[in-house]
Amino acid sequence: MAHDKDARTSTDTLSVNLGPRSYDILVGENLLETAGTHIRPLLAQPRVVVITDANVAQHCLPALETALGRAGIIHDSIVLPAGEHTKDLAHLGDLTDRLLDSRVERATTLIALGGGVIGDITGFAAAILLRGLDFIHIPTTLLAQVDSSVGGKTGVNTRHGKNLLGAFHQPRLVLADVGTLETLDRRHFLAGYAETVKYGLLGDAQFFSWLETTGADLCAGDRAAQRHAVLTCCAAKASIVAEDERESGRRQLLNLGHTFGHALEAQTGFTGALLHGEAVAIGMVLAFELSVRLGLCPPNDAERARRHLAERGLPMSLAELSGPAWTADDLFAHMLHDKKARDGRPTLVLVRGIGQAFTTRDVHAETIRALLDDALIG
Ligand SMILES: NC(=O)c1ccc[n+]([C@@H]2O[C@H](COP(=O)([O-])OP(=O)(O)OC[C@H]3O[C@@H](n4cnc5c(N)ncnc54)[C@H](O)[C@@H]3O)[C@@H](O)[C@H]2O)c1
Repeated sequence: MAHDKDARTSTDTLSVNLGPRSYDILVGENLLETAGTHIRPLLAQPRVVVITDANVAQHCLPALETALGRAGIIHDSIVLPAGEHTKDLAHLGDLTDRLLDSRVERATTLIALGGGVIGDITGFAAAILLRGLDFIHIPTTLLAQVDSSVGGKTGVNTRHGKNLLGAFHQPRLVLADVGTLETLDRRHFLAGYAETVKYGLLGDAQFFSWLETTGADLCAGDRAAQRHAVLTCCAAKASIVAEDERESGRRQLLNLGHTFGHALEAQTGFTGALLHGEAVAIGMVLAFELSVRLGLCPPNDAERARRHLAERGLPMSLAELSGPAWTADDLFAHMLHDKKARDGRPTLVLVRGIGQAFTTRDVHAETIRALLDDALIG
């Protein structure tokens, strides 16, 4: 993986090496304002359609439209409602119809301007429309900058669960401008911070230690710290995706906390009562706790992980979230609906310590249920 730094603009460039589907990730500031110059050389025709949501449109769309206009790129914009409920078949159908109404052609490029929701639905629309359009992602949430904009997983939710319809479709470019994070609300910022911490916990103990000392500044708006974190996470993801694009091996490690997390999100009915990153934070703590119970992980490492996430303000207690209605059986049933479950067993990412994740399907259902039971009691 190549990494270049442009000293004048303080922009870092990483590449995701996937042969003919390789692409760059630019990490820096003021990338919205300079987007046109980065995007223009990649376009098969000087026309793009920007897809965004109502919140992001307010904060980021004018600057992007100006930049596209300055670079001589013809552009339309489609503004979707904000929130996870937009990531469904109804909105996908509406989006693809509106794109067809606007007479997109095979050579038209879509731009996803927004967080993980906009990235996932736009990427999926790009994958299926006219059998495949190019798309570019300009992630505007911390979660999307450190994780979801890289790697080409696209899709929508169905009533059966999250991301059950989708495709692998890599973007042509990712522009991660940390300046856009300034307007992100605290709760969504922290949810993205959980995914940031995930990269330390799964494979980079040094990065986790750095977060222990710098995380407070990063969350308080320190842009240099944010750039370093985005760059570190994107470099890790780029390397993993280049090795295992379709998640048959090492890429599964990125699901640390996700099997538990998806079960929690499903239990809340994807209402937004629990954000994806919040669910992942609790899921990572459960994965560490399970690893300790199985004698795999030193208790002190689990405590460090839990303490760091809690200190930053992420929800930790399943008991507080759940109310009386949730049962371990319900949560376990959701875990079995996860895409990665096989032969009635969930695939879990467990740890031998901070930075040492591995996958397994060898944990007995009873052990998982007992863990969930205890977590629900608090
Ligand atoms: N494709 C992947 O690899 C992958 C990985 C992780 C998560 N995801 C998906 O990502 C989604 C969650 O992403 P998210 O947390 O970015 O959610 P999101 O896209 O819903 O954004 C969160 C909220 O922040 C607002 N927002 C976004 N940018 C803003 C900005 N700069 N200023 C002000 N408000 C802003 C949005 O309007 C929204 O209300 C989930 O659907 C999850 O499944 C996908």
